[in-house]
Amino acid sequence: MKFVRKMILPALLAVGAAMAVPAAHAAAFKVAIGDAAGGTQYELGKAFAESLKAKTNGQATADLFPNSQLGDEQDTVNNAAMGLLDFSILAINNITPFSPSVAVLTLPYVIQSPEDARQLTQGEVGKQLTENTIRDAQVRIIGWSYSGFRVLTNSKRPVSTLDDLKGLVIRVPKNELMIATYKAWGINPSPLAWSETFTALQQRVVDGQDNPYITVSAMKFNEVQKYITPIRYLFSLEPLIVSEQVFQSQSPEMQKAILAAGQEATEHSFKYLQDTEERIKKELVAAGMEITEPADGEKAWIEAAQTKVWPQFYDAVGGKEKLDAVLASLKR
Ligand code: MLT
Repeated sequence: MKFVRKMILPALLAVGAAMAVPAAHAAAFKVAIGDAAGGTQYELGKAFAESLKAKTNGQATADLFPNSQLGDEQDTVNNAAMGLLDFSILAINNITPFSPSVAVLTLPYVIQSPEDARQLTQGEVGKQLTENTIRDAQVRIIGWSYSGFRVLTNSKRPVSTLDDLKGLVIRVPKNELMIATYKAWGINPSPLAWSETFTALQQRVVDGQDNPYITVSAMKFNEVQKYITPIRYLFSLEPLIVSEQVFQSQSPEMQKAILAAGQEATEHSFKYLQDTEERIKKELVAAGMEITEPADGEKAWIEAAQTKVWPQFYDAVGGKEKLDAVLASLKR
């Protein structure tokens, strides 16, 4: 081993960006990804894997398993908590059931722009939520994918008003906040696991769902959905989490490399959204989808969500004062 170290360490030191991870701590990690390849989750995973490899001079690799191959998104949180899975990239709404305070980032209409999303995740709020998820769910958020606003799609008719929504069966994740939001909008949504969503849309068990443009395209929902309503109630954040057990079992050098690679991948994700979302939107329209703007600048949707949903979740997010502080930090 001494010989190996003698040979490897000088090589590591010679590579400027690489961190000195001893050969004894080489690792092959598995990264679960909920969405198909081609979406923002996969892009974050790719950037993370490349960065980790570079930072450890090839000592650590991260293999990506898209399409929920390693389990449904909510199951991956459990598996990571138990140390059975290394990493997972999943929608934030699928972490909230395990760590309720994360809901502050998913309260409808709190995040109103990609910049708001970046500010909250990269600032004090993000730091606090990372600590909370370690405490509550035994997973550590080490990176963020910025995936854009979740737009509503359906196969039946153009939707512009809350009245248009009535009678549609809309799939939502098993997430109380999203369920409450649709209830505030006047319908009872159908909670369904992500891995079952495409089939449910295809077989018309449900009429619609909401997800960002890039996800709609990556999942080929345009093949089974016709109408888009670009509501802006939820900005989709898709964290990269690591099992706290796995993280704590790494050497300090490997931990440093993992955190740095997560940060680099996060920066890449923000740029990817800006470079990609508009093109994907045009591609969906070219593929036959129709966009109908919400009536009256979404006023009725916003009012219903803020007055009926927010108060139900004050406790979950740590009190109304917590939400007020978050809004104040966004200058609102
Ligand atoms: C969901 O709708 O369950 C999630 O947004 C799926 C995803 O990870 O994209």
